[in-house]
Amino acid sequence: MDDAEAPDLQEIDGGVDLIVPDESAEWIALHRTDITEDLCAEYARSVYRDYLGMEPFFPDGIGSVLDIGGGQGGLLAMIAKRTGARPYLMDGSGLALRRTNMNIAMDPYNDMGSARRLLEANGVEPVLLDLSPDATVPVDLIISTLSWGFHYPSSTYEPLARRSLDTGGRVILDIRKNGLGEGFTEIGCIKRVSGKADRICYERI
Ligand SMILES: C[S@@+](CC[C@H](N)C(=O)[O-])C[C@H]1O[C@@H](n2cnc3c(N)ncnc32)[C@H](O)[C@@H]1O
Repeated sequence: MDDAEAPDLQEIDGGVDLIVPDESAEWIALHRTDITEDLCAEYARSVYRDYLGMEPFFPDGIGSVLDIGGGQGGLLAMIAKRTGARPYLMDGSGLALRRTNMNIAMDPYNDMGSARRLLEANGVEPVLLDLSPDATVPVDLIISTLSWGFHYPSSTYEPLARRSLDTGGRVILDIRKNGLGEGFTEIGCIKRVSGKADRICYERI
């Protein structure tokens, strides 16, 4: 499904139940450059639309979910809230985007303190993890929007995903070119993202 075919954000207003504190706004402006006005409310709606597209691809019974490069953690909060899954957020704090003038690959431009507060405002207690491709994080689902596979290669965290997921576990990420290989099978394409990437769901085999 292309963005153009997704439900109109105004039409899905009623289902949005995400609390986004004002302090997240400056980070949302960096992370979601398609959102330019009414940042917190639009982010909540945008995250909800992401959630609706992904939900049919979730594995049965999610006990835990890892968001790699999850930014302010809105999507992770929504998944945790709606499924009861334990949320793990892997990102960092930094201003790479401003510091390096758009050279954002492989460098955090986020604030983990405000991400934590967003998650807690939504009644979920996150586990915050530093950026570490060498980690093993045993979870049922790994997600990444506009980050892994989009700003840096899919190979970056592919071994982490292979180690972390049991058979049947799933990965959903935005792929610009090379997708996941050994140990994964593609389940489906959720949508086209920003005309540059495909949001793909893989299953660990
Ligand atoms: C465009 S933002 C997307 C944030 C969030 N996923 C969203 O959809 O709103 C990219 C995120 O990737 C993070 N990032 C940058 N380099 C990274 C890396 N090497 N590993 C993990 N995250 C990274 C940034 O800090 C930032 O939060």
